[in-house]
Amino acid sequence: MLKIKIGKGEKGYPVYLHHGLLHNGGLLLKHHFAGGPFLLVTDKNVFSPYGEICTQSMRQNGFKPYMVVLEGGEKDKTLQSAFKLYGEALKAGLDRKSFVVALGGGVIGDLAGFVAATYMRGIPFVQIPTTLLAMVDSSVGGKVGVNHPQGKNIIGAFYQPSLVLADLETLKTLPRRELAAGLAELFKYGIILESSLFYQIEFFLKDSFFELGSSTFQKLVAQAVLTKGKVVTVDEKETNFRRILNFGHTIGHALESATSYNYYLHGEAVAIGMMAATYLSVKLKILKSKDACRILKLLERLNPPLPPAGLNTAEVLQALYSDKKKDSGKLVFVLPSAIGKGVFYKSPPLAEIREVVEKYLYQRPGNEISDLG
Ligand SMILES: NC(=O)c1ccc[n+]([C@@H]2O[C@H](COP(=O)([O-])OP(=O)(O)OC[C@H]3O[C@@H](n4cnc5c(N)ncnc54)[C@H](O)[C@@H]3O)[C@@H](O)[C@H]2O)c1
Repeated sequence: MLKIKIGKGEKGYPVYLHHGLLHNGGLLLKHHFAGGPFLLVTDKNVFSPYGEICTQSMRQNGFKPYMVVLEGGEKDKTLQSAFKLYGEALKAGLDRKSFVVALGGGVIGDLAGFVAATYMRGIPFVQIPTTLLAMVDSSVGGKVGVNHPQGKNIIGAFYQPSLVLADLETLKTLPRRELAAGLAELFKYGIILESSLFYQIEFFLKDSFFELGSSTFQKLVAQAVLTKGKVVTVDEKETNFRRILNFGHTIGHALESATSYNYYLHGEAVAIGMMAATYLSVKLKILKSKDACRILKLLERLNPPLPPAGLNTAEVLQALYSDKKKDSGKLVFVLPSAIGKGVFYKSPPLAEIREVVEKYLYQRPGNEISDLG
């Protein structure tokens, strides 16, 4: 079992990573909590394969889980769901010594974390991520929250978990499309922050796709967690450096918003955003075309979907310019400057942005970028 320490001092917490970890979840909880009742939040797709495995081990170790099973999906990430969970927590008699466990993907983690952050002014919480995106991204870094009808993640907090239990075995039931969306975030760390991770991904993708059960895959996930952990430790509240993690998200969010959040998975939109940002970086003479080719080759393996019929570049650009990550009125891109390195770039020319959006919205060119060299 791998144990990765995230953060410093009081706000530090361990991420445990292993195949089959859920069978011992209760034992690991025991190192952190005295036993007794807690609220376990999950969704239907996760409950049926993992609900029993998870609660059995917890009961055996003196805990009393009160399980709430939600429908699943983004529509659960609301204040209404949070309100329902406060009611369940009260019914279960949870007090300030109790805790909340999120068993599921990023939706469940964000929602349950938000409930933990606000119930009785904050009680501890535990993340048990079951999607790859949740393992390498949303369960680490303490962003919790719910959506508002006018925008995603509008209501929330920075609230760190007490521990994270990531069982890679759970990825075996994850739909392939969800897995690819999670890989996009994993690749992101390699492209923009950690060249050694990039080279490992590149090496293992040479002939085939990843073996989920392999120790190699476990190492890649661990390195991704470690990389995100380093960033969120130096800038917990995203005042500065943490924004490097927005690589691919500027255009990615615009794609999601222009399609009303019901066409692309988040990781798919980010994958397209990373391709476009990589090409933009070459056009702005920040990134060498040979590095761009390597990055694009990796991202193309994720095969994000082509746009829905009727979506045009103008709509994406409109969404882009009303994006919340505008910095004092300026559009800020994170661009790769070499393998494993990134820079912030304010207000690239509109003509260049239009060109790269157009290109990566509709086609997935391979090595054409070398023409720019
Ligand atoms: N807090 C953060 O830092 C952060 C970072 C990135 C994304 N997010 C949020 O995360 C959410 C997306 O997370 P997600 O991609 O994990 O989506 P998700 O939680 O909706 O899970 C995706 C789907 O997979 C199902 N599922 C989950 N685990 C499964 C498993 N092991 N086997 C079979 N099915 C399984 C779920 O029921 C759901 O239908 C968004 O709301 C996004 O805003 C948060």
